[in-house]
Amino acid sequence: MEYKNIIVDFEEGISIITINRPKSLNALNIETLNELECALYQLKVDNRTQVLIITGAGEKAFVAGADITTFPTLTPDGAREFVDLGQRVMDTIESFPVPVIAAVNGYALGGGTELAIACDMIYASDNAFFGLPEVTLGIIPGFGGTQRLQRLIGRHLAKELVFTGEKIDAYKAKEIGLVNNVFPQAELMTRVKEIARMIMKRGPLAIRAAKRSMVFGMDHDLRTANEIEKLCFITLFGTEDQKEGARAFLEKRPPQFKGK
Ligand code: CAA
Repeated sequence: MEYKNIIVDFEEGISIITINRPKSLNALNIETLNELECALYQLKVDNRTQVLIITGAGEKAFVAGADITTFPTLTPDGAREFVDLGQRVMDTIESFPVPVIAAVNGYALGGGTELAIACDMIYASDNAFFGLPEVTLGIIPGFGGTQRLQRLIGRHLAKELVFTGEKIDAYKAKEIGLVNNVFPQAELMTRVKEIARMIMKRGPLAIRAAKRSMVFGMDHDLRTANEIEKLCFITLFGTEDQKEGARAFLEKRPPQFKGK
């Protein structure tokens, strides 16, 4: 599929999706969300991606939220269709089989913060801002923001952000545990790719199993979640990579993982 609103790149195991509507600060409209859904499906089926990075085009914004230009005429039926699509995209990112890193290169507001927190890790440039300003528009976050944020940073902080609609900068976002780390903007992609390459040195089946255990375990009580972990753990003992990992350690050499 030809994309108009996103760019998909692939380099040595790392896929990069860039939201590319810089004139609208990469705001998410239906077309962009459809393209994102399609790209995620294609990358999943293609199965070559070991780490996926999501970022925004330009130096100003990651994603400045849902596209507000469509809101004045949006009916409840239209809003349902929009939010169903948006939530589906965020869920697909969250359950994507390999780690997804948000490289937040500027404003991540509303749907932009929601997109970032659907990812597994968030690295931000020093000019980034996060926030859920939906109440300033007379609406609430609709792409999972009222739910994921409170699970991530706790109820009181999440409610403060949702109820006030205030933005926080990258350093504050790091202080409250929303962001993994902050880098100068010019270094952001280089540093994120270094982290991706570090993940790619590890056992690829183990990385997938760890993500599955953490993402699906998160929604369950501890006993059920530990059972999910147990199943993921046991399955790895039927793989060549697990034997190689242990042998390499004992033979004091780096492992040669094959993803089998
Ligand atoms: N939708 C559509 N267009 C947007 C946009 C958005 N979310 N955010 C910015 N733009 C457009 C602006 O309208 C402007 O277009 P024009 O040049 O044609 O006027 C262009 O991008 C540049 O924006 P600004 O001139 O506003 O740039 P700024 O530097 O003065 O401000 C900003 C930057 C603080 C990010 C500001 O643009 C802003 O507040 N944007 C809206 C943020 C927002 O409210 N997001 C939540 C959307 S609702 C949502 O996301 C719902 C949900 O949960 C799914």
